[in-house]
Formats: sequence, C-alpha cells, structure tokens
Amino acid sequence: PQEHTFALIKPDAAKHHKDDIMQKVKEAGFTISKIKEEALTREMAEQFYKDHKGKPFFEELVTCMTQGPSVIMVLSKENAVEEWRQLMGPTDPEVAKQTSPESIRAQFAQDILSNAVHGSSNREHALKSIECAFGELDID
Ligand code: CMP
Repeated sequence: PQEHTFALIKPDAAKHHKDDIMQKVKEAGFTISKIKEEALTREMAEQFYKDHKGKPFFEELVTCMTQGPSVIMVLSKENAVEEWRQLMGPTDPEVAKQTSPESIRAQFAQDILSNAVHGSSNREHALKSIECAFGELDID
C-alpha cells in the first residue's frame, strides 16, 4: 500500500541544490504526488515545528524557514515516511557524513540548522502537515 509523507526542501537548499535533490528523490523511487514552490508563512513554520517550540533554536529555525521559497511536496511510496527519513539522513550533517554519506544531508546540508530538507517524523504529523500545506488530502 502507498503511504504519503510531507517533504520540504528548505530555502537555502532550494536555491542552490534543487535539481540534485530532486534527482535523488526520483532515483529513490518516490512518486511526487504534489509539489509547489512557496515561502512558508510564520504560521506554517510554527505548525510544522510545533514540537520544537520553546527550544533555544526555535526562533532561528522559523526565520531560516521563512526567508525564501521552499519546495513543498507530498512524496508517495510504500513506507514513505520512514524511507524519506532514511534518504534525508541524520539532522546534523556532520553525523550524516559519518553514518550515511549517500544521504541528502551528508551531501547538501550546510549545518544543523540549515540542513537542506525536512520530513515528517510519523504518519500523523505527515497528514497534518500535508493538510496545512495543500488542504484535504485528495490523492488516490
Ligand atoms: P528538521 O528535521 O527539519 O526538524 C527540526 C529542525 O530543527 C531540524 O531539521 C534543524 O533544522 C533544526 N535543529 C534541530 N536541532 C538543532 C540544533 N541543535 N541547533 C540548531 N537547529 C537545530
């Protein structure tokens, strides 16, 4: 069965590495069910990152995420949530380079904050973020 996840190329990476990252998405066998390029509003960024509210990096994170257009997607595949997390690699690109050199973050992230891509951590978050970005899910 197909699963859907919410995936996003962050503004800095969208500017410099979009084609390379999209290539890896396609090579990994994801179907791009929805895609748009748009700067996140503060409300959207806060919704996607509500679990991080109160952390020391939260304000910087929201600023970084709203500074320019992101590539916002719904990716579909069997086990999409987990597989997209695997393809992204660990949050910190220094760790990613050690443990998952083929991952997107190992190859394209600048640092732990500007780490190229975002993905939902579970199916419930994925559905909420998809709804927030695209409205009701109307795929298959
Ligand atoms: P992401 O996977 O999109 O989800 C949470 C984001 O918070 C993470 O990527 C980073 O951009 C950011 N983040 C997580 N931990 C740190 C940290 N220790 N310092 C700065 N930013 C962080």
